Amino acid sequence: ATERTFSILKPDATRRNLTGAVNAVIEAAGLRIVGQRRIRMSREQAEKFYEVHKERPFFGELVEFMTSGPVVVQVLEGENAVAKYREVMGATNPAQAAEGTIRKQFAESVGENTVHGSDSVDNAKAEIAQFFTDDQIAA
Ligand code: CMP
Repeated sequence: ATERTFSILKPDATRRNLTGAVNAVIEAAGLRIVGQRRIRMSREQAEKFYEVHKERPFFGELVEFMTSGPVVVQVLEGENAVAKYREVMGATNPAQAAEGTIRKQFAESVGENTVHGSDSVDNAKAEIAQFFTDDQIAA
């Protein structure tokens, strides 16, 4: 089915001027970027977005990193977009990411891993709603 997923190009991607290179991989995989905005995430936004990881030892570091520079928030659309994007991103830890994936090509570490992608259709809906209104998405 045609789905939407939520993507973030993280601060390590904007810092290294890689947003176009990452978008090229996304589009080559057949995913369409139907919403996109470059923002500075506030501490409040980052804490809310990563609320499920609140008790993890890396939570503070994660919020620090996500607010350390601009990010690009995106809505991606396509056939099985949630699973497709997770495949294109590669494993969370770039050392374990498959050849050709975004993280294998670009990610620096498990924390600074270039991209975020939703892990389910339900989470995608909630994550998209946190950053986009309907009029900011055009398919
Ligand atoms: P993301 O998919 O955006 O969602 C949770 C994030 O936590 C994950 O990407 C990683 O960037 C980050 N993360 C996971 N494990 C660690 C870790 N051990 N140290 C720092 N960050 C981590």
